[in-house]
Amino acid sequence: MAILTILTYPDKFLSHPVKSVENIDGTIQDMIEDMSSTMYEAPGVGLAAIQVGIDQSIIVYDISPRDEKRSLHVLINPKIISSEGTTISEDEGCLSVPDYRNDVKRSVSVLVEGFDRKEKPLRIEAHGLLAVVLQHEIDHLNGILFIDRISSLKRGLYKKRIKKMLKQK
Ligand code: NI
Repeated sequence: MAILTILTYPDKFLSHPVKSVENIDGTIQDMIEDMSSTMYEAPGVGLAAIQVGIDQSIIVYDISPRDEKRSLHVLINPKIISSEGTTISEDEGCLSVPDYRNDVKRSVSVLVEGFDRKEKPLRIEAHGLLAVVLQHEIDHLNGILFIDRISSLKRGLYKKRIKKMLKQK
């Protein structure tokens, strides 16, 4: 197991759609192990393969409360089949967008289909936090960051701040 480097905005790799997984083989299993250790180490509630430089449609997540037993979930080739309602996810953040949080408009519930790591088809009806996490991570696989879903004014301010920071380095 290895802790992988998490790519951050404005890394170009984060903005392209990833490839679908064709075979859930040993290489993919190793990637899943590395991705989950990286997510827990960060710590974060979800991580998409693209965030650690892997061009594959894989996400890992664990939304169990901090004081409860960990419960890792793996989704391969996830797709949002349908979505319902509108909500504001307050203070959304992302390991690839450091030191920044903002409210994001999201669907209240989503129906997601994909596969688990044993190639078993999954169908998840998600509401609340899980629905937000799945929308956020599936966005990653399509090359979309949560800052792409806030107003261009707010995004502009964040981009300015990052540019300034990069100049100072
Ligand atoms: Ni993220």
